[in-house]
Amino acid sequence: MMQDKQTALVTGANRGIGYELVKQLASMGFQVIMTSRDSKKGSEAAQKLTESGLDVLFVVMDVTDPESIRRAAMTVTNNVGRLDVLISNAGVYLDENVKLLHMDPAILERTMSTNFFGVYHVMHSFIPLMEKQKYGRIINVSSEYGAMNALSYEGAGAYKISKLAMNALTRMAAAEVRGEIKIYAVDPGWVSSDMGGPSAPRTPERAAELILQSAMIGSEGPRSGFYRDGKAIDW
Ligand SMILES: NC(=O)c1ccc[n+]([C@@H]2O[C@H](COP(=O)([O-])OP(=O)(O)OC[C@H]3O[C@@H](n4cnc5c(N)ncnc54)[C@H](OP(=O)(O)O)[C@@H]3O)[C@@H](O)[C@H]2O)c1
Repeated sequence: MMQDKQTALVTGANRGIGYELVKQLASMGFQVIMTSRDSKKGSEAAQKLTESGLDVLFVVMDVTDPESIRRAAMTVTNNVGRLDVLISNAGVYLDENVKLLHMDPAILERTMSTNFFGVYHVMHSFIPLMEKQKYGRIINVSSEYGAMNALSYEGAGAYKISKLAMNALTRMAAAEVRGEIKIYAVDPGWVSSDMGGPSAPRTPERAAELILQSAMIGSEGPRSGFYRDGKAIDW
């Protein structure tokens, strides 16, 4: 079955920027699949939105578990039958003020598992549905820390490398994918979520608005790019 309404999916959406992305996409008229690794947190967050009349479905997905991603993709394929917008938002920042060469290597592995391999497995599982319908917009939520020039000063090495690798993956995937599918990496800015902390100048609401500008790009947009504040910038 394929439903008529446009559909979007957001990873790591039970709080922070992801939650706002779901809320705004649903307010724009999408049916939104909110995903979270924790079924209680995810279903409670989805319920808050459905109670306000928004069309939100909850599906469990832990991006560090390829089997969980594959199961979610089967659920979407069988029960919804289409996917127009896919946002890889789930992320961890585990090495603030820690030096790469002195940290427990498990921190680098956990960071790469979520921020890089998670994004890879999500694209790997969901792109076939988009290729079948020959349309899709994919946003990988990146960071200014993923830019090459962020590597010349120390700190947050695991996080920086994970977002740099995510940017590379974004570009490579866009070069391979077939159909009217665009894949962008988007830097949301410094945002006052749990990750960004209360001093951050940008709200999750504003970050979500800017991310969605890139997700709504029409057929004239480039196949790939790195966006900040709604504008393409150098990778
Ligand atoms: N905040 C900033 O200033 C900032 C700046 C640049 C980029 N970003 C990026 O923006 C994205 C969203 O960040 P945020 O600020 O909203 O962070 P946040 O408030 O810490 O939220 C992170 C979300 O990711 C989820 N998550 C973590 N590991 C996961 C996994 N293995 N599977 C599924 N979900 C998982 C968390 O779920 P749980 O609740 O279960 O932990 C949570 O829902 C991230 O990719 C981040 O790197 C943020």
